[in-house]
Amino acid sequence: MTYQNILREDADGIATVSVNRPDKLNALNDLTITELQHCFDALTHDDAVKAVIVTGTGEKAFVAGADIGELASQSPLSARPLAMKGQRLMDTIEACPKPVVAAVNGYALGGGCELALACHLRYGSETAVLGLPEVTLGIIPGYGGTQRLPRIVGKGRAMELILSAKPVNAEEAYRIGLLNKVFPQSELIEATRKAVIGMTRHGPVALRFALDAVNHGMEMPLSDGLNYEATFFGLLTSTDDVKEGMNAFLEKRRAEFSGK
Ligand code: COA
Repeated sequence: MTYQNILREDADGIATVSVNRPDKLNALNDLTITELQHCFDALTHDDAVKAVIVTGTGEKAFVAGADIGELASQSPLSARPLAMKGQRLMDTIEACPKPVVAAVNGYALGGGCELALACHLRYGSETAVLGLPEVTLGIIPGYGGTQRLPRIVGKGRAMELILSAKPVNAEEAYRIGLLNKVFPQSELIEATRKAVIGMTRHGPVALRFALDAVNHGMEMPLSDGLNYEATFFGLLTSTDDVKEGMNAFLEKRRAEFSGK
């Protein structure tokens, strides 16, 4: 598939996916969602890719929301599948078996904030602005915002963001745990790359199981989640990676994991 609204650039085992509609502040229209879905379906199964960075083209915006021009013409019959299509994309990103990090380089509003919420980590520039302003348009977040935001920042803070519709700056987003790290705008992509390269040096199977244990464990009662964790812990002992990781420690060298 040739992409019109996104870019995918691969280097050193890291794929950088950029939403590329800077004249519309990278707003997510239907084609952009289709392209992101295609891209993440491919990335999920691409063994050459060890981690993914998601960002927006230009200096101003990560993604300024779902495309309001398209939202304006929705009906009850069309809006539900539209929300489900966006939710499917966010689910695919969250379920990706390798780290996916959002580099939030400006406005991340509405669907843009939801895109960042679906990523496993969120790093932001000092110019980042995050929020869910949907109620100002008479709608609610429809790409998972009402569900993922409280799981990340807690119910009270999520309610504040959703009901007030007021976005937060990078400093506040960091304070409430919405951003994991904040960097100067000019350093964001390089700092994110550096952090992601660090992650890709760890055991790929361990990373995959850790992501799965956290994501699925959050949906379970604690006792089931602990059981799930212990099962993965046991399974990992059968991998080449665990032997390599332990041997490398004992031999005082850096582990070279095969992902098997
Ligand atoms: N959907 C469609 N187009 C959007 C958009 C969106 N979510 N966000 C921005 N754009 C477009 C604008 O319409 C404008 O297009 P135009 O030049 O053809 O008129 C262009 O992007 C630039 O945006 P502009 O509003 O002029 O930039 P700004 O710097 O003055 O304001 C924002 C930036 C982010 C504060 C403002 O664009 C905004 O409030 N966007 C909507 C945010 C939102 O409600 N998102 C949730 C949607 S569910």
